Amino acid sequence: MPSKVSCLYILTVVCWASALWYLSISRPTSTYVGHMAMPKRRIVKPPPKNITFTNIRTRPLNPHAFEFVINEPKKCESITPFLVILISTTHKEFDARQAIRETWGDEGTYSDIHILTVFLLGRNTDDVLNQMVEQESQIFHDIVVENFIDSYHNLTLKTLMGMRWVATFCPKAQYVMKTDSDIFVNMDNLIYKLLKPSTKPRRRYFTGYVINGGPIRDMRSKWYMPRDLYPENKYPPFCSGTGYVFSADVAELIYKTSLHTRLLHLEDVYVGMCLRKLGIHPYQNSGFNHWKMAYSLCRYRRVITVHQIPPEEMHRIWNDMSSKKHLRC
Ligand SMILES: *[C@@H]1O[C@H](CO)[C@@H](O)[C@H](O)[C@H]1NC(C)=O
Ligand SMILES: *[C@@H]1O[C@H](CO)[C@@H](O)[C@H](O)[C@H]1NC(C)=O
Repeated sequence: MPSKVSCLYILTVVCWASALWYLSISRPTSTYVGHMAMPKRRIVKPPPKNITFTNIRTRPLNPHAFEFVINEPKKCESITPFLVILISTTHKEFDARQAIRETWGDEGTYSDIHILTVFLLGRNTDDVLNQMVEQESQIFHDIVVENFIDSYHNLTLKTLMGMRWVATFCPKAQYVMKTDSDIFVNMDNLIYKLLKPSTKPRRRYFTGYVINGGPIRDMRSKWYMPRDLYPENKYPPFCSGTGYVFSADVAELIYKTSLHTRLLHLEDVYVGMCLRKLGIHPYQNSGFNHWKMAYSLCRYRRVITVHQIPPEEMHRIWNDMSSKKHLRC
């Protein structure tokens, strides 16, 4: 019968043997394993959901390397606009700009909030037109120009210039609208029915006439998109460039995203691509009309935007609506 002492002895020997064996095999390998496994594990730990070159790119793919040649950097120094309206325009559209200044774009219409109207332009190849715009700017101080060539194919640059301007010179504005010079905007509806100055300001907000479409491959179309520029057969949801509205924080987000997003000439599609990258979903709003719509007081009272309005008609519509404010529909 083994004594307690010999039992304890055997146990001790076994323990020591195991400990020595463990140390002898683990010590050299443990440092080896440690060196190799630790950094490996560190890399693996945040599972890379999407390894693409865009994730590791540091140099901008689309550096917006233009300079302001006409600027209004102090517009927001003394006021904080509730709404900045960016209007994409071309050099010859003097009448359209003037019509907007005198109708819905009049910055003095509202006494409770500040609105700011800014016209966006590039450089014309005809220097006479550049000089005329310069003179116009000295009178009205509402024109911003960057030194890219102004053309239909460069519309995206114009929009990005507007985003950059808001982010740089008017970052405290609450909302921004981007529209075109042939659009009638029902400002009362936009401000008091949609944006509502008395409510909490929204963030990461984007709305307009949402289009869920795909590229048009017919070369005769105004919206032709070559397959090599955009191979997918669906666009992300985007708002028609005729008029979209967003909270001002989105201006900087889109501008910064664009620096890493390959340029596309269709500005509204391009903004939609930036929104997808940002995870911002545009809200559909039926008040934004993508197409022309014949004037009638009651019909225009319900909308936010109407497309294809020439300058004379802009005045006529504005005067009619202003003089009939007391009439009911
Ligand atoms: C991966 O990233 C690319 C580019 O940012 C994006 O277009 C794509 O949708 C992403 N895919 C997934 C599964 O997140
Ligand atoms: C767009 O602007 C850039 C920069 O000025 C210019 O090089 C390019 O030719 C323009 N593109 C078109 C289609 O006008």
